[in-house]
Amino acid sequence: MLVFRQLFDPTSSTYTYLLGCSTSGEAVLVDPVFEQARRDAALIAELGLKLQWTLETHVHADHVTGAWLLKQKLGSGIALAAASDASGADRLLADGDRVTFGRRSLEVRATPGHTNGCVTYVLDDESMAFTGDCILIRGSGRTDFQQGDPRALYRSVRSRIFSLPETCLLYPAHDYRGLTATSVAEEKKFNPRLGGEVGEGDYVGYMKNLDLPHPKKIDEAVPANLRCGQPGNEAGVPPGTMEDPHWAPLRFTFGGVWEVEPHWLEENLAKVRVVDVREPNEFTGPLGHIRGATLVPLGELAARAPELPKDKPIVAVCRAGSRSAHATAILQKAGIADVANLPGGMLRWRAEGRSVEGGAL
Ligand SMILES: [Fe+2]
Repeated sequence: MLVFRQLFDPTSSTYTYLLGCSTSGEAVLVDPVFEQARRDAALIAELGLKLQWTLETHVHADHVTGAWLLKQKLGSGIALAAASDASGADRLLADGDRVTFGRRSLEVRATPGHTNGCVTYVLDDESMAFTGDCILIRGSGRTDFQQGDPRALYRSVRSRIFSLPETCLLYPAHDYRGLTATSVAEEKKFNPRLGGEVGEGDYVGYMKNLDLPHPKKIDEAVPANLRCGQPGNEAGVPPGTMEDPHWAPLRFTFGGVWEVEPHWLEENLAKVRVVDVREPNEFTGPLGHIRGATLVPLGELAARAPELPKDKPIVAVCRAGSRSAHATAILQKAGIADVANLPGGMLRWRAEGRSVEGGAL
């Protein structure tokens, strides 16, 4: 079975695609975004997958790839087209190559035009293709910077993408209107730039008169992407922003919450401040509470957060771990950076036989 997820970066409107083989657990990630590497790594872990490769459809001008960062975090290999002229890749792809993940694979099709090194990845059964910025939903990528060439893009779409089965779903690298997927049949019929009877000359005329603004991040993104996302001296990547907190062995969830394991908390109670966000009657009730915990019911937390001393990291606790997950967001919004949730709350704490104050035996 194929595992498939479409992920979105709202800043650059980029789609990242996770494809995995459920039998082997091997996975690939197409077009990861630097700032979303932590999110993507959390999803891959929660789905029980092992990231084999990050794949680029091309050298992007609007965001920095997460390829290098994911390689540091997960040990994945970096693959992109040889024609992209990037350094730092573990595998350089050519037209016709196959990238295998478990029992599944993607075929590499050279589809130049937006850039020289653009490729489309086609799933083994031709049911899906990842077109990058070659064809977009009812649109196409720009051809007015990097090595853009409208004639090459037209030919790529007509000969390499429209030749796929009509039912093949197409997934682009971007959409700016919230559309998520299209099909070969749809784009053949309805793409205003490339479909129907539109000829090569018509497309060239269309693209020459688009008059688009200079991409905001191009001066920073292209040099970084030519190093597969390894940070350099450009101003755009502030040092340390992608570093994980070090005060405890924390886990970041796909839901966006830092978590600390109960056994670590029990052994390190003196290093943190435990904030219990249940109601007072729960705090003194049968589950008891963690020794030294400060009671601040969730409904009062936003107002009372400024009172909390900032000398130690805070671990938020509740009955089952849900209210306290929300509490971590409230505390971060109040400017407290070192915050984590206790997953499973007092129920799990008690079930694991950890020590409490008060409560029923
Ligand atoms: Fe692009």
